[in-house]
Amino acid sequence: SLSKLLIKGGTVVNAHRQERADVYVEDGIIVAVKPNIKVGDEVTVLDATGRYVMPGGIDPHTHLDAEFMGTVAVDDFFSGQAAALAGGTTMHIDFVHPVNGSLMSGFEAYEKKASKSCMDYGFHMVIRHWDESVSKEMEIMVKEKGIKSFKFFMAYKGTFMVDDAVLLRGMKRCKSLGALAMVHAENGDAVFEGQKRMIERGITGPEGHALSRPPMLEAEATGRAIRLASFVNTPLYVVHVMSIDAMEEIAKARKTGQKVIGEPVVSGLVLDDSKLWDPDFITAAKYVMSPPIRESGHNKALQAALSTGVLQLVGTDHCTFNSSQKAFGIDDFRKIPNGVNGIEERMHLVWDTMVESGQISVTDFVRITSTECARIFNIYPRKGAILVGSDADIIIFNPNSSFEINPRSHHSRTNTNVYEGRKGKGKVEVTISRGRIVWKDDELKVAPGSGKYIPMPPFGFLFDGIEKIDAKLVSSFKAPVHRFKSDV
Ligand code: URP
Ligand code: ZN
Ligand code: ZN
Ligand code: ZN
Repeated sequence: SLSKLLIKGGTVVNAHRQERADVYVEDGIIVAVKPNIKVGDEVTVLDATGRYVMPGGIDPHTHLDAEFMGTVAVDDFFSGQAAALAGGTTMHIDFVHPVNGSLMSGFEAYEKKASKSCMDYGFHMVIRHWDESVSKEMEIMVKEKGIKSFKFFMAYKGTFMVDDAVLLRGMKRCKSLGALAMVHAENGDAVFEGQKRMIERGITGPEGHALSRPPMLEAEATGRAIRLASFVNTPLYVVHVMSIDAMEEIAKARKTGQKVIGEPVVSGLVLDDSKLWDPDFITAAKYVMSPPIRESGHNKALQAALSTGVLQLVGTDHCTFNSSQKAFGIDDFRKIPNGVNGIEERMHLVWDTMVESGQISVTDFVRITSTECARIFNIYPRKGAILVGSDADIIIFNPNSSFEINPRSHHSRTNTNVYEGRKGKGKVEVTISRGRIVWKDDELKVAPGSGKYIPMPPFGFLFDGIEKIDAKLVSSFKAPVHRFKSDV
């Protein structure tokens, strides 16, 4: 059936401009963006007076249903996505791990995990070892499965970590396939050494996690990955940039014109490490993630780097564990499953921290939470925009309302929330996923199986002027003909 929806009277915000306009949607696709659209009785009308109408958020970095550190993250593709929708995020990109060394088996396992999806999603693929079959399967992933980004862990020695030889081969393969290399940048050998040092000194609590892997180890790996990418001459995406030290490596490389993308995550932007010293183990352990949340000062510097374009888009690294799982590390911080929440909180916290504080504009907010991600992974302007022909992934945001974060009312399955008690200005009042109203009046209406896999098409204009949205390119965008419904 053809669902019809009109969003009336709001301010439509894209990364390249904002304007007073109505948005008319048919069957999940935006078919008109202009003032004073008139419709018949059969159309559902949402009043957006005094609100911003923005593209739904796209989270470039999540770990739903992830098997990690001997356990499984509690949010699966249904609960994690439901939480995302309640917070105004309408798409995410998750990390597929190979199964028994096979990328295809990993892809199939994740297809299964994601079959309960209630919003759109894409995949990155993790590369954990190297041989001829991995190299061949990378090509199949790129050409047949719509995966265009491959992540290399430089840390987690003994499980995920790859050495420089694998990293180099992987980067070369990415280059030959037109794919994007991504790194978790920490020196895993030095982290291993640092952890041993802490345990030998009797520091077994969560603070040992931070002390064992200081910013210099993140900066070292970031700088090394940047130089290897330069040596191979291929672009690089650095996930979860957590420290000034790592950010400065990125800034330096970008100044020379090297194609390096830096992704801060919400935890790194708004939190500091003080809770890691809390005498209550569970209170402290819930903040354990890698790279660690840094001491106060790094957060503000990362915000500044985001506002000046040194860093380009915000992820969450949403990877949630219950207190009972965090408790695996009660005698040894090395056994605390690493990860924090954020998929539901990202839009509100970025708004409050970056826009409400005056550091960036509303159009920049759309860029760093949605459009830039869509551009980097080449699904713009199907995603990340409110343009005729784009998917109707839309939020209605009230800048004069407010939010408050509470683990008893959040939608994630985890029983903790690292942002507990935070409040601020702005509220996602309505979330629309492919034309369906899925969040309104603080109520979720989601159905498992309604989300779709979004394959990433071959890279086109990826790196020509990624910081500046090209208005000409946007206006020349023509949606595929089959997407147009009758004009209004
Ligand atoms: O602590 C984290 N970041 N957990 C998720 C896995 C990763 O390293 O991204
Ligand atoms: Zn193999
Ligand atoms: Zn990581
Ligand atoms: Zn991650």
